[in-house]
Amino acid sequence: MSATEAFSRQSVYFDTLEEKHRVLTYLRAQVRAHVRRFIEPGDFMLELNAGTGLDALYWVKRGVRVHATDAAEGMLKQLHQKKEYSSAGRMTVEYLDFTRIEHLQYKGFSYVFSNFGGLNCTANLEAVMDGLMPFLAAEATITWVLMPPFCLREALKLLRGRWRYASRRWRGHTTAHLEGVHFPVYYHAPGKVKRLFQSYGFETVALEAMSLLYPLPEEEEWAKKHPLLTRWCSYLDSKLRHRMPWAAWGDHYIITARRKKQYACV
Ligand SMILES: C[S@@+](CC[C@H](N)C(=O)[O-])C[C@H]1O[C@@H](n2cnc3c(N)ncnc32)[C@H](O)[C@@H]1O
Repeated sequence: MSATEAFSRQSVYFDTLEEKHRVLTYLRAQVRAHVRRFIEPGDFMLELNAGTGLDALYWVKRGVRVHATDAAEGMLKQLHQKKEYSSAGRMTVEYLDFTRIEHLQYKGFSYVFSNFGGLNCTANLEAVMDGLMPFLAAEATITWVLMPPFCLREALKLLRGRWRYASRRWRGHTTAHLEGVHFPVYYHAPGKVKRLFQSYGFETVALEAMSLLYPLPEEEEWAKKHPLLTRWCSYLDSKLRHRMPWAAWGDHYIITARRKKQYACV
């Protein structure tokens, strides 16, 4: 069984999970603040692995036209059921496996967005870029949120003797277990992704870490118990997360690239 089967099963309570989850709320706000630096109200966004559409609806409300896609039927069902979706107007939804982008209902996307590690479900980001290229506008921007192969906060668990957990990313891949489904997860180093973007004529314009020292999503209880320490970690993150090597050492990182004008061919 696959990642999308696992996420389909999780889809029924996906939004509820996040509602009162301080860490996830904080992290999603960080991603949105990052994207707001680059997106414009008239943009046409293709969202890959959009899940239940939490971000898609957020961007639509801010004047962006969004085509939200995912390959988990359960996620798409949740999205279709949302009242805001039917009244959103500027939003469309399509089933799409990002490893097989051959046809899409639309083209001319000026922004491609993928949040919270959806693209860590594939080892082959080249296939994703290959698939995307015919559908992009001349001056397209890409923002992906990915998990890197080294996470400082996880590595620090070595001090507590949690060797397996601390080192689980270091081989570059692992097996995730969600909703009774096992599926492979692949970690992508920011340097590799930068080179990939470069080879398709994109220049990386921003890179920042998420949960460098700030708690990981699974450390919600720790964050609740230690609000001052959590705030302090948030402060330190804000000072370090844009600088190398820290930018590459978070639980996730946000990377944004823009197509250089001389490569534009649409
Ligand atoms: C952690 S969830 C994130 C969902 C959403 N981006 C968010 O931030 O709430 C990962 C998503 O990736 C999707 N996904 C996994 N493999 C996929 C694939 N091959 N094609 C498209 N979507 C995929 C899953 O169905 C799931 O919705």
